[in-house]
Amino acid sequence: MRRGDDCSTAARQCTIHAQPASRVAGSIAVPGDKSISHRAVLLSSLATGISEVRGFLASEDCLASLAAMRAMGVEIERPAPTEIRVRGVGLHGLEAPSHDLDMGNAGTAMRLFTGLLAAQKFDSRLIGDASLMRRPMERVAKPLREMGADVRTHEGTPPVDVRGGRRLHGIDFRMSVASAQVKSAILLAALYAQGATSVTSPAPCRDHSERMLESAGVKVVTHGLTTRIEPPGRLASQSLAVPGDFSSAAFFLVAGLLGAADEGLMLLNVGLNPSRTGLLDILRSMGGRIEVENPRMSGAEPVGDLRVHRSRLHGIAVSESLVPLAIDEIPVLFVAAACAEGDTVIAGAEELRVKESDRIAAMGAGFTALGVMHSVTPDGMRIRGRGEGPAFGAGEVDSCGDHRIAMAFAIASLRASGPIVVHDTANVATSFPGFVGSSCSAGLDLSESDSGGAC
Ligand code: S3P
Repeated sequence: MRRGDDCSTAARQCTIHAQPASRVAGSIAVPGDKSISHRAVLLSSLATGISEVRGFLASEDCLASLAAMRAMGVEIERPAPTEIRVRGVGLHGLEAPSHDLDMGNAGTAMRLFTGLLAAQKFDSRLIGDASLMRRPMERVAKPLREMGADVRTHEGTPPVDVRGGRRLHGIDFRMSVASAQVKSAILLAALYAQGATSVTSPAPCRDHSERMLESAGVKVVTHGLTTRIEPPGRLASQSLAVPGDFSSAAFFLVAGLLGAADEGLMLLNVGLNPSRTGLLDILRSMGGRIEVENPRMSGAEPVGDLRVHRSRLHGIAVSESLVPLAIDEIPVLFVAAACAEGDTVIAGAEELRVKESDRIAAMGAGFTALGVMHSVTPDGMRIRGRGEGPAFGAGEVDSCGDHRIAMAFAIASLRASGPIVVHDTANVATSFPGFVGSSCSAGLDLSESDSGGAC
């Protein structure tokens, strides 16, 4: 077992051992944004000319997107671990892959690629790991079929079979869930459709696709909750700088609120797209002191540095309108809630049940193991916070192979009365390679092992 080192492949049975710690300090630059990195691979592959992407997230999920594009004939170089250079083949230049496209654990890749592949001239099949093979795909397949595509799922889940050579036409689609993946899949197919396409969301959700498409020269018009695009003749190549992932920074936002030293914990170059930062509003309304410093733009995306101060948190009823803007951060929000004074109630978060794991069930089981009083509801949780002092007992929890559950329980060690052992943590590498190392450099006391020996 080595301190500050991550397991590197999801095939290993890794375990994080978190000893109680009470102080975090210094500055952390989290890896690049996962959502933006996927989109950067997709759009630069379809562009005309060479695109350069810095700050690319070299995690298993984004590498699955990259491998899929290579399998369809796109030349992608990696001059540095977090830099890619993509020789775009143009909107119509992809070649038929010689094998199934394996998206690993990446729901975003599977859904976005389904939209793109629906418009190609060749057939394709999308597969993934055991978790991804259980996730709902009809939400993407159905609107694509309305556009004229031939997309088949197996009782709603992968493998997804896409028959090529179909002529697509624009649609006006109303989503029943506020899903950026569904919206983006439709927008990708719409690049090839006859006529304009519009997508209306029931609530705001992340808009990275719209921003990147506009930078590539596509006419994208957003009115309230409706986004409309016209099919372009081509996509322009781009030079992109991917900001740090707000969803990865979220673990250290909560860590800072629970245990930052006097000068605060600094999180550098974090993406602050308002469609992603619902957690900032939620934590602030719980009494969290977080300052944004040096706000700036990185291409089409707002970024800034965050200074997080140790804060006395109090429980709240989380506004349901903020849930889609904080959907990936809710596991770590549950940890913050367990450390707040009084009850926190989160509702309207039923989407958590169909993420990499059933995140409501996984967090509930972990809370039970660590002695946190809570009640699980179909669409959220009520959590009784302990206030100052330890909120978690010593114990063992199962991440259910879900990166965000694993990292959330590692952060809980800042308010634990004894060691927390988190099982099945190899998937941390799908979104945050280096998490254990970054955590240790900030002052957490984490180490990692695998069943076969040293990680
Ligand atoms: C993502 C959208 C969200 C989010 C996921 C990434 C994206 O999923 O949970 O981690 O990059 O578009 P939904 O679209 O299913 O809400």
